[in-house]
Amino acid sequence: MPKLGVIYRLSVEDFFPGGLTFPEGRQIAVWAAAAGADALHVSAGHYRSLPSAQVVLPPMAMPDGPFLDYAAAVKKEIAMPVIAVGRLGDPALAEAAVTDGKADFIALGRTLVAEPQWVEKVSRGEPIRRCLACNTCINEMRGGARIGCVVNAAAGREAAFADAQPARGERIAVIGAGPAGLTYASLVAGANKVTVFEKQKLAGGSLRYAGKAPLFQEVEANEQSFDRYIDDMVAACKSKGVVLRLGVDVTADPSMLTRFDHVVIATGAAYRFGLGRFATWALDSGAARWPGIARLLSNDRLRNWFYYRARRGTAARLRYMFCVGKRITVIGDAVKAGKSNQAIASAFEAALLPGSGGRAV
Ligand SMILES: Cc1cc2nc3c(=O)[nH]c(=O)nc-3n(C[C@H](O)[C@H](O)[C@H](O)COP(=O)(O)O)c2cc1C
Ligand code: SF4
Repeated sequence: MPKLGVIYRLSVEDFFPGGLTFPEGRQIAVWAAAAGADALHVSAGHYRSLPSAQVVLPPMAMPDGPFLDYAAAVKKEIAMPVIAVGRLGDPALAEAAVTDGKADFIALGRTLVAEPQWVEKVSRGEPIRRCLACNTCINEMRGGARIGCVVNAAAGREAAFADAQPARGERIAVIGAGPAGLTYASLVAGANKVTVFEKQKLAGGSLRYAGKAPLFQEVEANEQSFDRYIDDMVAACKSKGVVLRLGVDVTADPSMLTRFDHVVIATGAAYRFGLGRFATWALDSGAARWPGIARLLSNDRLRNWFYYRARRGTAARLRYMFCVGKRITVIGDAVKAGKSNQAIASAFEAALLPGSGGRAV
């Protein structure tokens, strides 16, 4: 008779006074192994954890692999395989967790929501689309919405993208290397010849600033999380043959676009009322995190005002400048100022479901 394998998953530390402590959690793991569990899956955290229930799904302000040492400590006590979990999506860290003997397996949650092809891509040595650890997926689910992901607009909408028919054989110019432009380029690269023009010397656009704000979505923002995501998106584009022209302002010389069949405007949104300088100063200087200002900027109404009202899409100004007679698509904040997940979703739709996403002008 075939044996049914049993994986026993447990949280070994509750992170609140009166909750389970690690020595108790480790003892339960030992008892579970003695009782016949075939593998132990070691998580940590609880809905009452401090400083917040977010600890269960370590948010971006926490370091990578915060529960790995718990798995390693359990592994020392038992002979069964141990599975580690919790922000292990960095390929080098995931591999080291196993090769260093801290765990026998690693489990990935949000990493696979953001990048369902993580396993294939990592095994081929290709760059991945990193999870930001922003917890939008779980927070929206807990609020009753279907699962969604800031960086992977197909998550939870796989059926809508099942018959995706991206363009083939086109020469595509993407203007703007922000979240929408990089996402679009990464999705259409390979089957098309893609060049991304960015007037700044660094790719990333508004996302480079998102980590300097007090909050991103509902979690404390962390710059490293965004930098890694952007760097890997750039690497993914380059590995698929995208030409990245940083520090090049095509508005100064639109003739650079004449050799392209299709121009995608992903130039983001610009601040109104002269707020651009203030916003850049507050974020660059760290003032946005001073307690009084951070409290103010964490207010939902004010945040929404900054996202939706204080900025305006830049495409209306640009579309007259570019190439009469060419196909032009506008995506992301360039159409209408909004949040990163909306900008990235618009890039997914324009790239994979041409005709339904972006806005042809
Ligand atoms: C959308 C979502 C739903 C989850 N649901 C459960 C659940 O029902 N039970 C559970 O023990 N963990 C659940 N988790 C937690 C994951 O199993 C995992 O422990 C956690 O996400 C940390 O791993 P990660 O950093 O790889 O995401 C969920 C995670 C996500 C993102
Ligand atoms: S919503 Fe955020 S935390 Fe969830 S999988 Fe996507 S990037 Fe990761």
